[in-house]
Amino acid sequence: MRILVFGAGAMGSLFGSRLSIRNHVTLVGRREHVRAIREKGLVVRGETKGVFYIDAIENVGEYEGYPDLILIAVKSYDTEDAVREIVRRFGKEIYVVSLQNGLDNLDKMKKHLGEDRIILALTTEACTFSRPGEVLHTGRGKTILGSLTEIDMVEKLREELNLVGFEAEISKDIIRDMWRKAMINACINPLTALLEVENGRLKNPVLFEIVRKVCRECVDVAVAKGLDIEYDDMLKEVEEVIDATSRNLSSMLQSLMRGRKTEIDSINGYICKVGGEYGIRTEVNDLLVKLIRMKEARR
Ligand SMILES: NC(=O)c1ccc[n+]([C@@H]2O[C@H](COP(=O)([O-])OP(=O)(O)OC[C@H]3O[C@@H](n4cnc5c(N)ncnc54)[C@H](OP(=O)(O)O)[C@@H]3O)[C@@H](O)[C@H]2O)c1
Repeated sequence: MRILVFGAGAMGSLFGSRLSIRNHVTLVGRREHVRAIREKGLVVRGETKGVFYIDAIENVGEYEGYPDLILIAVKSYDTEDAVREIVRRFGKEIYVVSLQNGLDNLDKMKKHLGEDRIILALTTEACTFSRPGEVLHTGRGKTILGSLTEIDMVEKLREELNLVGFEAEISKDIIRDMWRKAMINACINPLTALLEVENGRLKNPVLFEIVRKVCRECVDVAVAKGLDIEYDDMLKEVEEVIDATSRNLSSMLQSLMRGRKTEIDSINGYICKVGGEYGIRTEVNDLLVKLIRMKEARR
């Protein structure tokens, strides 16, 4: 397949690197990264190792031809601009896969693309951007794929991801899975980012009481939206993730440490927005959103 990766940061570079083993991949990234890849190839260290000689460009206008598939791997606050650029260049008939966290990417994609062109990919692979031309694959995970309508491309992508060494499955209910993943992030990310602690510290009884409250509000909102999610199951899942990632720094904390914006609006912010639409109180999530925004403003 001809695959274009829009947003060659950590995730985009990782997925692009492995997919390039069997496909023609082009990365769209920032100038320094593109220049380094053109000069020396893309270096991937850690769980994936190698130097990948992949085409890299700075904007979709430079792409020649028409790809079979576009992977969006920008942060969620850049999704709308990315989709707009993609549709301007390739039209509305292109298959677009969101490889992102957050709950608002789907709405942003639906503004510009038909439901039969949108694929969601939720991944627990972990990767960091080391320097231009190099990323570090820090942890192996699973990638779950799904779409709103039956799309053959989902199965094609699943097969391709597995053939290049990822563990990919098709979800029975991708919207529910997307909410579950976002709710785990909502419970862990802002608190660890505000307190500047590893995930495991949330097991402290005082902090875990806040986690419970965040989780309660998230589940209330999800249920109001019609999702079949139980509070006890969700809290158990959050606790399991805290245990499994106890020494990790959440992505939100890492973003703040690097002086970057966070995805708070797409996670807790989105929960609050939907809560407002259904008249569900989301006081703790609201507070976390405000505090993270204050911390972002100090960058
Ligand atoms: N990293 C992980 O381990 C991980 C795991 C699971 C899910 N995710 C999700 O995957 C998504 C991507 O995360 P990430 O960690 O890969 O972020 P990232 O490293 O910041 O990568 C995004 C890249 O896209 C670039 N970009 C944005 N707009 C662009 C444009 N118009 N043209 C070219 N490049 C553009 C960004 O450049 P600038 O920074 O200069 O804007 C950045 O290099 C997020 O939703 C995240 O939550 C990440």
